[in-house]
Amino acid sequence: MFSDFPLFPPQASTGAAQVDALYLWLVGLSTVMSILIAGLVILFAIRYRRGSGADRTGAPTGSLKLEILWSIIPFFIVMFTFAWSTSVYFQLSRPPDDTMDILVVGKRWMWKLQHLNGRREINELHVPLGRAVRLTMTSEDVIHSFYVPAFRTKMDVLPGRYTTTWFKPTRPGTYHLFCAEYCGTKHSRMIGSVIVMEPDKFQAWLGGDTAGVAPAAAGERLFSNLGCVSCHNPDSKGRGPSLFGVYGSRVALTGGATALADDAYLRESIVDPRAKLVTGYEPLMPTFRGLVGEEGLYHLIEYIKTLSPPKTGDRSGDAANTGGKESGRS
Ligand code: CUA
Repeated sequence: MFSDFPLFPPQASTGAAQVDALYLWLVGLSTVMSILIAGLVILFAIRYRRGSGADRTGAPTGSLKLEILWSIIPFFIVMFTFAWSTSVYFQLSRPPDDTMDILVVGKRWMWKLQHLNGRREINELHVPLGRAVRLTMTSEDVIHSFYVPAFRTKMDVLPGRYTTTWFKPTRPGTYHLFCAEYCGTKHSRMIGSVIVMEPDKFQAWLGGDTAGVAPAAAGERLFSNLGCVSCHNPDSKGRGPSLFGVYGSRVALTGGATALADDAYLRESIVDPRAKLVTGYEPLMPTFRGLVGEEGLYHLIEYIKTLSPPKTGDRSGDAANTGGKESGRS
């Protein structure tokens, strides 16, 4: 439906057609309502203008039937729109289980991207056709926004925290990547391209540069260089909690609360260790804010993830869904 409406960018992801259909429905609805209302205003203004000979006798002063009708009909139209847009929103905000993960760091004025095998890119993102790609994004300075019109994907990129988005490319080609949040003088130059390749060509491309170190490996090195291991050692006799199995688990905090150990929690624990103190430990850990850049933080987190056995059917994006039941994901 609505494939390649001429004024729109190409539809190159699984979500694009749904977003367009919803968008056209909203535009169509607004157009019909605007024409109806404006048309009646004009019509009545002409017919009942001062001095016209129009028949003014028997003007209705109230009608319960009419009032119910003009309340009920818009109610159902609005609820229909709400249900539809909510289902599209959930689909766009919940990545499927089997995603290819990529780190995105926004910086005035460039996009830095890194694949899980360590291969880095600047202002270019190569992805394979037909594979769901999940982006974990953060900024080194101000707010940016990662915008690929052909995928109908736009997500703000914020300093000090992670945002995620995902897409599944359906068509090979090169597509525009924009920064969609004003971020300074060269905001308009903060552009790039997303290159969708056939899977075998992508594999060849990905393996073409072996200089990169995988984020988890880089994180392991950083973990030892920064001396993290001296406190967070595996047998938990150290001054800090052991990190084995921590990722994805619920952590008991001082004061009785618990926290889900996801990407955001781990990141916060590195840059602001006292924000959420694990119960039974002293606030000894120094902050690593400024010592470790955004990429380093991501590398450390990727390394800590490798210390936990992967859970099936549960992604870090679904904080509420820790039950891991197999049913109900449609
Ligand atoms: Cu980055 Cu605008």
